[in-house]
This record gives sequence, C-alpha cells and structure tokens, in this order.
Amino acid sequence: MSSRPETIEWIGSTDGHLCLIDQTLLPTDLQRIDCKDVETVWEAIKMLRVRGAPAIGIAASYGTLAGLQTVDDQDAAAFKARFEEVTKYLETSRPTAVNLFWAMDRMRNCFAENESMACGDLRSRLLEEARAIHAEDRQMCHSIGKHGAGLLGGVSGVLTHCNAGGLATAEYGTALSVFFTAQDQGHDLHVFVDETRPLLQGARLTAWELMQRNIKATLICDSMAAQVMKEGKVQAVVTGADRIAANGDSANKIGTYSIAVLAKAHNIPFYIAAPSSTFDLSIQSGEQIPIELRGSDEITNGFGRQTAPDGVEVYNPAFDVTPAELIRAIITERGVIDPVTSSGVADVVGAAVG
Ligand code: MRU
Repeated sequence: MSSRPETIEWIGSTDGHLCLIDQTLLPTDLQRIDCKDVETVWEAIKMLRVRGAPAIGIAASYGTLAGLQTVDDQDAAAFKARFEEVTKYLETSRPTAVNLFWAMDRMRNCFAENESMACGDLRSRLLEEARAIHAEDRQMCHSIGKHGAGLLGGVSGVLTHCNAGGLATAEYGTALSVFFTAQDQGHDLHVFVDETRPLLQGARLTAWELMQRNIKATLICDSMAAQVMKEGKVQAVVTGADRIAANGDSANKIGTYSIAVLAKAHNIPFYIAAPSSTFDLSIQSGEQIPIELRGSDEITNGFGRQTAPDGVEVYNPAFDVTPAELIRAIITERGVIDPVTSSGVADVVGAAVG
C-alpha cells in the first residue's frame, strides 16, 4: 500500500477531533481537514469532502463525538438530548447512502445499552463504537476483495464507475478492493474508469487511487462506455452501491444504471460490490430508495467554468437505481449473492441487517 494518510481518522480521545482527506481537492492537492465540531462534519459530508457510502457512515459516527463536546458530563438529561439532536442532524446531511443511517442506529443502540453509565464513561463507550464501525469496515472491504477477485478469472479489462475505493471506505474499498486483491494475487487487470459526471469522482479519485497502486487505468468519458464494450476492451463491470433493497435493486452514483443496461446489451457481467451495511432490508425494492437531488451549479459551473447558459433549467439526481435483474451478482463480505433475488439477499446478508 502507499503511505498516504488515512481517509478518516479520529485524533485523540473523547475530547479529540475528526481528521479527513478533503476529497474535493484531489487529485491535485492531498490535504486533510480537521473537523472539531459537528457542523464541520455535516458540511464535510454534504459537500463531499468525505464521500462514498461506508466513509459517510464512519465519519458521521465520529461526528457524534464531536457534537457531544459542547455538553457537560454532569447533566445526564442534557447529554442524552444533545446526543439525539446530533444524530438526527447528521442524518440530514445526505439521504441516499443507507450506511449513514445504519451507523447512526449503531450509535443509538450503543447509547441505549449503556445509558446507565456516567456520561464520561458513556462518551468513551461511544468512541469505542465509532472506532469499531471504522475497523469493521476495513475488514469488510478486505473480505469483499477476496470474494470478488475469484469472479474475475479470464477477465483482462474491467469497467468501474464513480469511486468505490479506499477514499470511499475505511481502506481498500469495495469495487476497487476486488481489483486490488486480484492484483495482489498476480492478476493484471486493465481498469477503464468512467469520469463520472458531474463531480468526476472517477477521474479525480478512482484514476488517482489506481495509479497509486500501479494498476493500469484508462480514463474515459461516461458516454464512451458503450464503445469500449463494443470494442471488447472490458469483460466485466464492477461498481459500489449506496443502498441495496431487499430484492437486490441497487442505488449507486448516477450513470450506473446506464452502464448496467449497456453491459446487458453486450453480454458483459455487471457486479455490485458492497458490505452488509449498505443493505436496507426494510425496503422491498429500489422504488423506495430516496434519491438525492443536488444543486444546478454542479452541472452548469462545475470546477470553475460556466458551461451552460444563465438561467437554464437543470435536473441533477446524484444517484440512480439498477434493477436486480441487470446485476449478475452482488459481492459482500459474507459471500456472493448469486442470483440476485430476495431470497439470495436474505440468505447472505439477512442475519446481518434484518
Ligand atoms: O456522491 P458520492 O461520491 O458519495 O457517491 C459515491 C458512490 O456512488 C459510490 O459508488 C458508493 O458510495 C460506493 S462507495 C464504496
């Protein structure tokens, strides 16, 4: 691995702070920002300084600790009220990635189970829980890589969309973990990277991560995926996910659905790689997944230049939902879901999140 700083790090004890790579500055500047209060954590999530479903959940878990620093340990009722306020507030930062809500529920359960403790001890327990969420994600990513690499036998070219790498998780990633593990096993892959309009997570982040790992990466505009498939350059597609419904319908970065349709048309397997924390078994299908709508500026004035006329109407959904029938398999830390059906999902991750 390269020696780059951690994507997310809690520095110090319960009175410490959150330190994040500011992903909006990549690939030109590798800088970290300190988040010393919950508002700064919220802003970092909202503005995609920290992004990717698992990373959002981890950052928000630590964010609860930052939010509790304004409250006195002597007042248990105020401590509880502040905890409730802070977790609810963090949940308003972004709606689609279920890992955020999953992580807040973990923190709430931890609070409820330890409510009889003195506030100082409860604070320490909450920090332990946030650190556990962080450490578990690291493990899950490595396991996803191991399960996924086996699916790429005979594959030389793969396509990915957005960024599902170490920047989107505790470390190693989900989709990229599959490529990193294949590489560790001596399998040379050539990864075609969709640039991922409008915020260019593919160009800015995935291409950067792959190059750091010396994996052959070729950047393409999103609209080139069909041509790359037609030319036979890729034999598999692997992406991450932000929320997976009980029937396997999977929300991921806008444009993923188009790629899955294209993969079907070219008879290329389309895989999703995601941890069990990305499954939302409370919803039956992708129809119920909330899709984040973001500002028009991201499309009309991306990266400092106006590229559309003043006043033009814009529609900017940040995610789309790929129907289960287009997904060849879902790679989780617990094993591979294949076929992608409600019972397949329940068999592999039902116990984890049901
Ligand atoms: O808007 P973003 O950059 O947070 O969207 C991220 C994605 O869509 C990722 O593919 C997904 O969260 C999986 S990250 C392991």
